[in-house]
Amino acid sequence: MTPGKNIPVITIDGPTASGKGTITRLLAQRLGWHILDSGALYRLVALAARKHSISLDDAESLQPLAAHLDVEFAVDKDSGEIVTLLEGEDVTQDLRAETCGNDASQVAQIPAVREALLARQRAFREAPGLVADGRDMGTVVFPDAVLKIFLTASTEERARRRYNQLKDKGLGVTMRGLLDEIAERDARDRERAASPLVAAEDAVQLDTSELTIDEVVDRLWSLCQVSLH
Ligand code: CDP
Repeated sequence: MTPGKNIPVITIDGPTASGKGTITRLLAQRLGWHILDSGALYRLVALAARKHSISLDDAESLQPLAAHLDVEFAVDKDSGEIVTLLEGEDVTQDLRAETCGNDASQVAQIPAVREALLARQRAFREAPGLVADGRDMGTVVFPDAVLKIFLTASTEERARRRYNQLKDKGLGVTMRGLLDEIAERDARDRERAASPLVAAEDAVQLDTSELTIDEVVDRLWSLCQVSLH
């Protein structure tokens, strides 16, 4: 039997920098539910591959790496922030770098890697509920979700958001470079054969280009009122 089959899941899928991460966190907070940041798992596989000098297209070596990923999420005593430990090493900063996102989208093309991460993702389904952020949450990982959202925004708006986000973290990027990288990653995610980035047939699509974060969360909250009652 699928674990936690009767525990409700809301899926939030969409392309890079469409606001999924922030929206997922705020919506989960309002609901008092758990979060799955599935992209972080693909990022971790990519980081582990780099660490062990495994090529990002070496499916045979990447499969066991993904299946046995040694990850721990801990709370930093001083800041209260979540710290990610990969094989005991703090990789919280490395995980958010643009290069890591690009590496992740390469390992994410490999069907055996996706398959190896399936059970780990589904294990996040715990009471009272889960908000899951990714590319294939509504299509593959949680097809029985009570509410499926597909967030989009124009490429320019997404590049602008990502630029501000990375600048705030002190990570060096240029707008031109980001536009190119986003377009390249979108194409790779949409065109791959395994679980491509596509809205589920029963997903509600929302273009967030002209909306503030609060406006998006409010709209999703209204949709929740309908879907959860
Ligand atoms: O934050 P951002 O949207 O840029 O990236 P992310 O959600 O952390 O995902 C990084 C990469 O992992 C994406 O470009 C996808 O190729 C891949 N990914 C995926 O294939 N399936 C998921 N469920 C989540 C991420």
